[in-house]
Amino acid sequence: MGIKTVAVVGASGNVGTPLVRALLNAGFAVTAITRPTSTATFPSEVELRRADPNSVEELTAALSGQDAVVSATATEVVAFTGQNALVDAAVAAGVKRFIPSEFGHNLERFERFADGKMLRQMLDGKARTAAYVEEKARENPGFTWTGVGTSGFFDWGLDTGVLDIHVKDRKATIYDSGNEIFSTCDLPYIGTAVAQVLKHEEETRNKFVEVVQYQTNQNAIVKALEEVLGKKFTLTHVKTADVEKEGHEKLARGDGGGAFVDFLHLWAFTDGAGHAVPEGETANALLGLPAPQTDVRPAVEEYIRSRGVKATD
Ligand SMILES: NC(=O)c1ccc[n+]([C@@H]2O[C@H](COP(=O)([O-])OP(=O)(O)OC[C@H]3O[C@@H](n4cnc5c(N)ncnc54)[C@H](OP(=O)(O)O)[C@@H]3O)[C@@H](O)[C@H]2O)c1
Repeated sequence: MGIKTVAVVGASGNVGTPLVRALLNAGFAVTAITRPTSTATFPSEVELRRADPNSVEELTAALSGQDAVVSATATEVVAFTGQNALVDAAVAAGVKRFIPSEFGHNLERFERFADGKMLRQMLDGKARTAAYVEEKARENPGFTWTGVGTSGFFDWGLDTGVLDIHVKDRKATIYDSGNEIFSTCDLPYIGTAVAQVLKHEEETRNKFVEVVQYQTNQNAIVKALEEVLGKKFTLTHVKTADVEKEGHEKLARGDGGGAFVDFLHLWAFTDGAGHAVPEGETANALLGLPAPQTDVRPAVEEYIRSRGVKATD
């Protein structure tokens, strides 16, 4: 029997909110596992259960009857506390499929390239969870996992400034030529991809799958924004060699967050870096998702619509 019931941890977050919507739309029965102190609210179709994220006992009780667990818990949990309590609880509750909170770059790809070294170190929490999940799956054949790689988020990257394209201010910082192609997707796409993973239970058993919605570059995004909004952006140009130096300086003075963003920029934007996920390495076809698109304009139009940005803003 296929997966029918899905528990989502972190269901009220950036990834979790559209993920819950996508799972409901795909016909899954969704339970949100939220912290006892959380004030998060959920759609009426979602069953709400509360559990201390560090208590295996409470989490095990909250996961009873669930076929799958999707963790979309916060970065700080992933990086520092870890997700082992949730993994142990999923095993104890007889959950069949566990998807850890990853939703980013492929850590093995970071390991293969010198310019991925710093990012790989900084994301060690995700690697430790992945190793723990694999170990538990080896020990418990009924327990399986899928890792979902999404590269950097497009809409979240615009909201937070991580893409360094600032829509409301009509400003952007362009790294090197701005022509380097990178992989990206928007937040609702992640939910769709996870729903497809759960519907392709056998094909995605015990593996890391990467999905790509768009292959684009900074210049294409700015051009699409200028066309849609009918206004020119003010551009600042920087060299990634200087950004790398700044990243190490930030790290030395304890600004790990700032350094992390600098190293992400280096990875994605450096001329000739070549780190876009090759189409042949994506799981798009396996999951019945369209091939990665090279025209980013639909993403830009959706961003402008969903964020209520007006040409006159
Ligand atoms: N690739 C990218 O560009 C990118 C960008 C952002 C995030 N990510 C990744 O996506 C995943 C989800 O991130 P997100 O931004 O969606 O997370 P988020 O919105 O910051 O947090 C998700 C949920 O985690 C729970 N939470 C928050 N703080 C917590 C704490 N201290 N202890 C336990 N639970 C806590 C909350 O749920 P309740 O209140 O319901 O308990 C919250 O709604 C992470 O793995 C993150 O690294 C990737």
